[in-house]
Amino acid sequence: MAKFCALLILIIAVCSTSATATLPKNGDGEGLLSCLHASGLTNVTTISSSASEFYSLLNFSAQNLRFTEPQTPRPYVIIIPQSQTQLEKSMVCSIQHGWEIRVRSGGHSYEGLSYTSDVPFVLIDLLKLNKITVDVKSKRAWVQAGATLGEVYSAIANSSPNLAFPAGVCHTVGSGGHIAGGGLSFLSRKYGLAADNVLDALLINASGKVMDKNAMGEDVFWALRGGGGGSWGVVYAWKLQLVSVPTILTAFTVLRTGTDNVTEAVHRWQYVGPQMEEDIFMRVQFFGIKVNDSTTIRASFHGIYLGRQPELLTIMGKVFPELGMVAADCKEMKWVETIGNFDSTNVSQLTNRYYTNKVFFKIKSDFGKTPLPKPALRGLWSIMEEEVSAYAIFSPLGGIMNRIPLTALPFPQRQGTLFDIQYKVTWTNRSEDDHYLEWMRKLYKYMEPYVSHSPRAAYVNYLDLDLGSAFNGSATAEEARAWGDKYFHHNYDRLVKAKTQVDPQNFFRNSQSIPPLAN
Ligand SMILES: Cc1cc2nc3c(=O)[nH]c(=O)nc-3n(C[C@H](O)[C@H](O)[C@H](O)COP(=O)(O)OP(=O)(O)OC[C@H]3O[C@@H](n4cnc5c(N)ncnc54)[C@H](O)[C@@H]3O)c2cc1C
Ligand SMILES: *[C@@H]1O[C@H](CO)[C@@H](O)[C@H](O)[C@H]1NC(C)=O
Ligand SMILES: *[C@@H]1O[C@H](CO)[C@@H](O)[C@H](O)[C@H]1NC(C)=O
Ligand SMILES: *[C@@H]1O[C@H](CO)[C@@H](O)[C@H](O)[C@H]1NC(C)=O
Ligand SMILES: *[C@@H]1O[C@H](CO)[C@@H](O)[C@H](O)[C@H]1NC(C)=O
Ligand SMILES: *[C@@H]1O[C@H](CO)[C@@H](O)[C@H](O)[C@H]1NC(C)=O
Ligand SMILES: *[C@@H]1O[C@H](CO)[C@@H](O)[C@H](O)[C@H]1NC(C)=O
Ligand SMILES: *[C@@H]1O[C@H](CO)[C@@H](O)[C@H](O)[C@H]1NC(C)=O
Ligand SMILES: *[C@@H]1O[C@H](CO)[C@@H](O)[C@H](O)[C@H]1NC(C)=O
Repeated sequence: MAKFCALLILIIAVCSTSATATLPKNGDGEGLLSCLHASGLTNVTTISSSASEFYSLLNFSAQNLRFTEPQTPRPYVIIIPQSQTQLEKSMVCSIQHGWEIRVRSGGHSYEGLSYTSDVPFVLIDLLKLNKITVDVKSKRAWVQAGATLGEVYSAIANSSPNLAFPAGVCHTVGSGGHIAGGGLSFLSRKYGLAADNVLDALLINASGKVMDKNAMGEDVFWALRGGGGGSWGVVYAWKLQLVSVPTILTAFTVLRTGTDNVTEAVHRWQYVGPQMEEDIFMRVQFFGIKVNDSTTIRASFHGIYLGRQPELLTIMGKVFPELGMVAADCKEMKWVETIGNFDSTNVSQLTNRYYTNKVFFKIKSDFGKTPLPKPALRGLWSIMEEEVSAYAIFSPLGGIMNRIPLTALPFPQRQGTLFDIQYKVTWTNRSEDDHYLEWMRKLYKYMEPYVSHSPRAAYVNYLDLDLGSAFNGSATAEEARAWGDKYFHHNYDRLVKAKTQVDPQNFFRNSQSIPPLAN
């Protein structure tokens, strides 16, 4: 009886003010801790540890301040495994003692799904599973899933100036979540998604069993590479195909300001950006800026060319003369330096896992299949000008993305898609959530006629709970189609099939995970 009461107190602490009238069923806390200790796992911090220790670990990789509020549900315990065996034991102990698991690599889930939950849970944080081995000769690397992209890039650059990996520019993003969701990057037009360059993976299931691609089977290996993190088990490590880049390449940024200038240039970009030769990646980001007392729109056309600057200027003079790119817009550098160049950091900071300048944010995504007409662009500028802390980015697809079959991996946006769109708004005052969320939803509604439809597509790495969600990952396969169809389209049913194979009891779940078929 005494134990039962202690448990009840814990539940209240865990659920805090977000608890509803009926308290959810909790796991066995003491049983979990003794199981972990008996397994030799000492790097464990519970909610009853000193609060500052607990919160500094919890907050460290929590990247959206919206989910570090006092009322955000917290894990009962944070477990930090430091080896494959410890990771297996963390999972087995948690599941045996009735706990739900959330696993975190870089913590960049836009909706905080790697470190929050609507039911009591434990957090397995992979920040210590970040080892990387690069084999220059075979152009391959094994990467533990807790490694950040910056750590991966740094290890590659330290091994060879001619090798790279095609993944995102934010250096604190985790390879665990990023590759699981596909991974679009400045190299996607040349080499495809990060997930297109995965050769093998080690996946651990709810019994603590480790499987490589042969053991897990074709459907599951397919699902892991783009079907989104959190549904299949825990990825312990990825085996990556590295890609070739020149020792010196060219990064560029061209700015255009004012409604007319930006409208003309962005309108034209839609026709040329996705059609350029695949050694060029040029995306366009736009945002409102205050000039004296009024606000106007500014566009930044930026990206990289896998070659030298004079060649780039020659090509641009032919394919996009309207932009007027000049030598001063370009800078030659190594591939690894381009990451810092577009992420306001430098090579020495790539292995720093702490994301500075944390803010509250909301992001939504779309895919463009036809160019937006000029009046539609002007309408978009006037909405963007309302919130100068917001931006939108159009990133071109095309290149090799057009040649990889639509069903090769879960990510369905290949041939027929011109660009992906990310809309982001940030704020710093916790009482202004509603204002900014409402504004973002208005922008999203405005864009509806101009973007992909039936379904209106979204990108799973730009996770958006507005598309639908289910308490405790309890959606049926039919219900989860609400978001599954948008992220994966015709690939959704195969994801359900893979889930049914690898996790029929749905241990790995969250409010937007892929459910198994009921048996
Ligand atoms: C600044 C910034 C820039 C970005 N740029 C890009 C970009 O250029 N291209 C792009 O495609 N995306 C980009 N993203 C989005 C990013 O790819 C996703 O948010 C990604 O899911 C983050 O991975 P993570 O490991 O950091 O996140 P986490 O929050 O740790 O994980 C995300 C999801 O994956 C699950 N997961 C994590 N690790 C594992 C594992 N080892 N095994 C199983 N499941 C796991 C989590 O439980 C969670 O559900 C960017 C994000 C930010 C914040
Ligand atoms: C969440 O789902 C799991 C698996 O179905 C179940 O065991 C658990 O009781 C659920 N928790 C809550 C609080 O509903
Ligand atoms: C446990 O992990 C934390 C966070 O990374 C680290 O600070 C601490 O030194 C680790 N403790 C042990 C005993 O390894
Ligand atoms: C972590 O975040 C919570 C919620 O915002 C905050 O109350 C706490 O002070 C933070 N703790 C640390 C150590 O940063
Ligand atoms: C984990 O995989 C092993 C080997 O395939 C299998 O026997 C076991 O049933 C799986 N566990 C779960 C919970 O699915
Ligand atoms: C438009 O671009 C031209 C040429 O770069 C520049 O001179 C002009 O100031 C721009 N217009 C506005 C409104 O900024
Ligand atoms: C902004 O104000 C400054 C100082 O009054 C002026 O020199 C400048 O021309 C103004 N800029 C624009 C774009 O109006
Ligand atoms: C890199 O960035 C850090 C942090 O901003 C700074 O302290 C350091 O001086 C920079 N190093 C170089 C070589 O620019
Ligand atoms: C935060 O927003 C609230 C509500 O709009 C406002 O009352 C408060 O003054 C703001 N705080 C700061 C520091 O701007």
